[in-house]
Amino acid sequence: MAPIPKRGVVAVTGAAGFLGGWMVRQLLDKGYRVRACVRQVDDAARTDFLKAMAGYVSGRLTLHAADLDQEGCLDEILRGCHGLAHVAHVSDYTDLDYVRRTCDHIIASVNGSRSIGRVVVTSSVAAVISEMDLQEVVRRPVFYEDRYPDEMNPKRTAERGQGYSMAKLIAERAFATAAEESGAWDAVTCCPGDNVGPIQSGHQKNMGPWQHHIEGMLKGRYEQNGVYRPWMTVDVRDDAACHIGLLESLAVKNGERYIAWSTDARNCEDICRDIGRLLPELNHQATDPVDPFPDRIKAREAEFRSIWAQAELRNDRIRAAAGVTFRPLDDSIRDCVESLIAVAGVGVKTATQMGAAA
Ligand SMILES: NC(=O)c1ccc[n+]([C@@H]2O[C@H](COP(=O)([O-])OP(=O)(O)OC[C@H]3O[C@@H](n4cnc5c(N)ncnc54)[C@H](OP(=O)(O)O)[C@@H]3O)[C@@H](O)[C@H]2O)c1
Repeated sequence: MAPIPKRGVVAVTGAAGFLGGWMVRQLLDKGYRVRACVRQVDDAARTDFLKAMAGYVSGRLTLHAADLDQEGCLDEILRGCHGLAHVAHVSDYTDLDYVRRTCDHIIASVNGSRSIGRVVVTSSVAAVISEMDLQEVVRRPVFYEDRYPDEMNPKRTAERGQGYSMAKLIAERAFATAAEESGAWDAVTCCPGDNVGPIQSGHQKNMGPWQHHIEGMLKGRYEQNGVYRPWMTVDVRDDAACHIGLLESLAVKNGERYIAWSTDARNCEDICRDIGRLLPELNHQATDPVDPFPDRIKAREAEFRSIWAQAELRNDRIRAAAGVTFRPLDDSIRDCVESLIAVAGVGVKTATQMGAAA
């Protein structure tokens, strides 16, 4: 029922992840105290970048082991917290009963804290746009917060690849209902677009999926991102700012959802070509994506492209609620590429190498 207070205490699940790591950094920059929840505190490859933050040295940032598969794992951690950013993935998006159980025990920890006033739940634009039948995009092309995938489509099942978007909707609703019943806290959902931007730790290059695609582009081989759709992006730093804005906002209400994306959309082969345009110094050799789908799907690519071209992406609500200004995708691509090279040591396939190989 309350935004987080200045210099208050915020717990972040998934804190070693791409988005969670930026949330931790920005919360510290804004003066908050942060309890970073990771599965293994002593996994140096995943947590050293957190321990290198100045707030860790002073004690404003603390690291805590929490495997969300374990009931009660957040009980102690949440005691005394003002807010929770539940950013983490869960272990399995195909078992929706497991997803429900995970929500239930996190909610029990929030209720047990007796201190949390607001939870931001990280959902996804998948919970807005992931359709079994693409004609739904033609019928309802405006992508905004009140749009949901066609949940009545009988083909919409975890077995047919919709587990992720179904799980996200289960979580959105479970937290909103529990908050309403509690009356002591509120739950707001953030639905991020495709996160692009700098990694802070080498292990994050393998996560993503978007930075991992860019890693492939740099190295000269990458796959089309699923059955064709354009990237609909948000810079990971702006996504973190949206989450924090929702924790702080006086305007938001329990059960609301906010889409975090810049409204920039781009084809993946264009993103590959952008690397050379934005960083000519790299002499990068652009390649076309590999399409791993069967011929009958490949044959429909032009149709898919024309359908997605009709989509209208909106971000009016998050800009009003969180006051975030989104940076252009070009900046996110440039910073992602530079971080993949500098932080993760990713090699670049250059035009010179290609010439030598020919
Ligand atoms: N990246 C995107 O483009 C995008 C777009 C829309 C929505 N999202 C959502 O944003 C959130 C963060 O995404 P991300 O890209 O930052 O992912 P990420 O880099 O893979 O990080 C996710 C984190 O989740 C943690 N995690 C996974 N299973 C867990 C479990 N059973 N218990 C505790 N922690 C667990 C992992 O923790 P450890 O490292 O400690 O093992 C990992 O660091 C996710 O909820 C995702 O669905 C992401």
